[in-house]
Amino acid sequence: MTKKLWGGRFSKGTHKLVEEFTNSIHFDQKLAKYDVIGSLAHIDVLKKAKLLKAVEYQALKKALESILKTIENGTFKINPSFEDIHSYIQELVEKKAGKAGLKLHTCRSRNDQVAFDVKAYTLENLFITQKLVDDLTITLGNLANKNRNLVIPGFTHLQHAIPVSVVQYLNAYVEMLNRDHVRLYNAAVNIHLTLGAGALAGTFIPALNYKQKKNKSLLKDIDSTKNSLDAVSDRDFIIESLNALATTSMHLSRLAEDMILWSTKEFDFIDVDDAFCTGSSLMPQKKNPDVLELVRGYTGRLYGNLVNVLTMMKGLPLSYNRDMQLDKEPLFDSFEIVQKELAVLTELFKNVKFKKDNIVKQLEDESLYATDMSDYLVQNGVTFKDAHKIIGHLIQHKLKNNVEIKTMTDAELKKFHPKLNAKVLKNIINPKTSVQSKKSIKK
Ligand code: ARG
Repeated sequence: MTKKLWGGRFSKGTHKLVEEFTNSIHFDQKLAKYDVIGSLAHIDVLKKAKLLKAVEYQALKKALESILKTIENGTFKINPSFEDIHSYIQELVEKKAGKAGLKLHTCRSRNDQVAFDVKAYTLENLFITQKLVDDLTITLGNLANKNRNLVIPGFTHLQHAIPVSVVQYLNAYVEMLNRDHVRLYNAAVNIHLTLGAGALAGTFIPALNYKQKKNKSLLKDIDSTKNSLDAVSDRDFIIESLNALATTSMHLSRLAEDMILWSTKEFDFIDVDDAFCTGSSLMPQKKNPDVLELVRGYTGRLYGNLVNVLTMMKGLPLSYNRDMQLDKEPLFDSFEIVQKELAVLTELFKNVKFKKDNIVKQLEDESLYATDMSDYLVQNGVTFKDAHKIIGHLIQHKLKNNVEIKTMTDAELKKFHPKLNAKVLKNIINPKTSVQSKKSIKK
């Protein structure tokens, strides 16, 4: 049993099972850095309010800074028997700063402290994730650029549809990632770092004392709280971040699925580097896209984490409730998964090679150009409905008789429509012509 921040009122120690059940230090230790940074801001507030003597302030500052140093250099060790990271850091401060340590928690509650810490953690991780999103965006852009002239079959319903350029295909994911970038940014914009809520009702320190402009470590200024009840019970920023992460993960799963398909024998569009694949313990020939499959699979966890916190928050009365302690594991989990996915995908895409010969062979499928053929008729005065039917018949004829349209004579083609002839169709049945004919896309 360890020292509690709230032991005074109790006549007995906490049951061992209750400690095990309620403790959170095994996961909230990730908040250590933000907790200390928050405490450094809090002692400034206490000093301004004349609640600390100069020597006490100095002792607390020294103690907190030395703890921060151990966190930053990786030598910080937690004591897992403490209730949470806040209690443990309080204990460390008391050990280092002596009596001054007993003043650290003046006008403060863990309810405010934990909201502040999680907000600071979330802010930092939103920006880390945003940078990783940008890295993947750049890598996809480079891959597109390297394959500037490459055209592949485009699909709807996973059936051959119309040829598209690799640039456009990869840039579709760049568009998604750009929206993810904005979503992460918006989640960050909506985070207000505040202090001064106390347990729920505010404290006797004037609101003005909380303005902190010089904070380098927090990415945002700290301010006094506008509504202390909301400050200790708001977890919207977690839900918004989990939503942004779940959406990013959904995009990554689609990208992964495309690459899984493209690397199959059946598609054979790309080669994923050996360093990013794994083998089979039984089948010697296997090269499996496990990284991509895990990216696809993790999305379930990301959705689960979002639904988890939404459900945990539903119907909670104001203000702080211990249920909220359960917001951290899903939040940390989602950030960690998405960050790992983005990092590994960025490296994987630096090593993707397109199998141009196989792609060219697949582009020989004449049905890919059926829409272009009907567009040609439309541009020559045929109504769209008639053109659709005429080319439909031509494709049916090709499939039924197993002939290549390219080998049909002018006389045969004219039976379908007088404007059709071998020369025209030879030009249309061409991946580059097909892609270049699409003028509606902004360049
Ligand atoms: N470990 C708690 C959490 O994460 C800290 C706040 C505890 N506050 C309280 N009044 N019990 O939510």
